[in-house]
Amino acid sequence: MKAFVVSDPGDTTRLQLQELDKPTAKAGEVLVKVKAISINPVDTKTREGKALYNSLAENPPVIIGWDISGVVEAVGEGVKMFKPGDEVFGMVNFPGHGRAYAAYVAAPESHLAHKPANIPHHEAAAATLAALTAWQVLVHQANIKAGQRVLVHAAAGGVGHFAVQIARYFQATVIGTASPENHEFIRNLGAVEQIDYHKYNVEEVLANIDIVLDSLGEENTRRSLGAMKDGGTIVSILGGAKEAVQEEARKRDIDAKNYLVHSSAEDMEKIADLMRDGHLKAHVSHVFSFEDLPKAHQQVETHKTRGKVVVSLNE
Ligand SMILES: NC(=O)c1ccc[n+]([C@@H]2O[C@H](COP(=O)([O-])OP(=O)(O)OC[C@H]3O[C@@H](n4cnc5c(N)ncnc54)[C@H](OP(=O)(O)O)[C@@H]3O)[C@@H](O)[C@H]2O)c1
Repeated sequence: MKAFVVSDPGDTTRLQLQELDKPTAKAGEVLVKVKAISINPVDTKTREGKALYNSLAENPPVIIGWDISGVVEAVGEGVKMFKPGDEVFGMVNFPGHGRAYAAYVAAPESHLAHKPANIPHHEAAAATLAALTAWQVLVHQANIKAGQRVLVHAAAGGVGHFAVQIARYFQATVIGTASPENHEFIRNLGAVEQIDYHKYNVEEVLANIDIVLDSLGEENTRRSLGAMKDGGTIVSILGGAKEAVQEEARKRDIDAKNYLVHSSAEDMEKIADLMRDGHLKAHVSHVFSFEDLPKAHQQVETHKTRGKVVVSLNE
């Protein structure tokens, strides 16, 4: 089968298309014929030798990627939820070795959900790592409730555009930061207020925020505290809740924490339900062929992507 291997980290030319043996489904695993893969910033950071590269390199060949949608080809011993021919999607083995940049992926059944029949593979693949992050942060980490004021940073991006929709689903009042050209986009997703982060600092224009999703890091996490209610929750997905920030937060009874998404079939099923019922939609702004996967990395590295970047194959 075809797969992209990184033997030596660096720029996008290090993504080498190779012919490898098809994996087999071990006990508890499902062999998926991949139809679409979504690309995340963690993929490009790992390709550069940062993020998860070292842990992946302990078990070569390094095959980056975690987000897939596809069709079950075979199931391993003990698999109960899936059978050959089922359409599935999920984030595989994150933060372990997902090996998703391949025509076939062996995935634990505990990381997959049935793909809703009314959602195409490229949209399903897009609604995995980024959607799970938004779900796990808002629901499990911040315990979101109706009527709360939720600030989503980078609201037009992969995680952000799902977070806006999920917060709206919970009947929160959603405020998003984005460049002006994305204000209409995030308004249509459910952000009632749009802040142009090029012009305004959130702590100068916002107050009484209950929940913040930070995806930009320490400086932004610290600034966001100034827009929050005492007793609120701020979750950084970019390690922004450093000890000094947490100390500042504690003085106002704000829960400031970092979070790393993890694979979960249970949460994927929730995402599947929301998509099936029209409450959550992946906005896929770019679709590349499998051979053009390095170009998909270049697009993610612009840091200007609206929604998600996806690679399509086996279709
Ligand atoms: N800890 C975890 O579990 C976890 C999970 C997922 C992602 N992450 C991390 O979270 C970050 C975001 O991920 P992503 O997938 O959402 O990225 P992405 O899709 O590449 O984000 C692109 C968006 O970022 C916006 N943006 C860029 N600079 C901004 C700024 N200063 N203020 C506000 N918005 C800004 C852009 O909006 P405009 O075009 O409107 O400017 C663009 O729409 C990445 O660093 C990623 O590695 C962590």
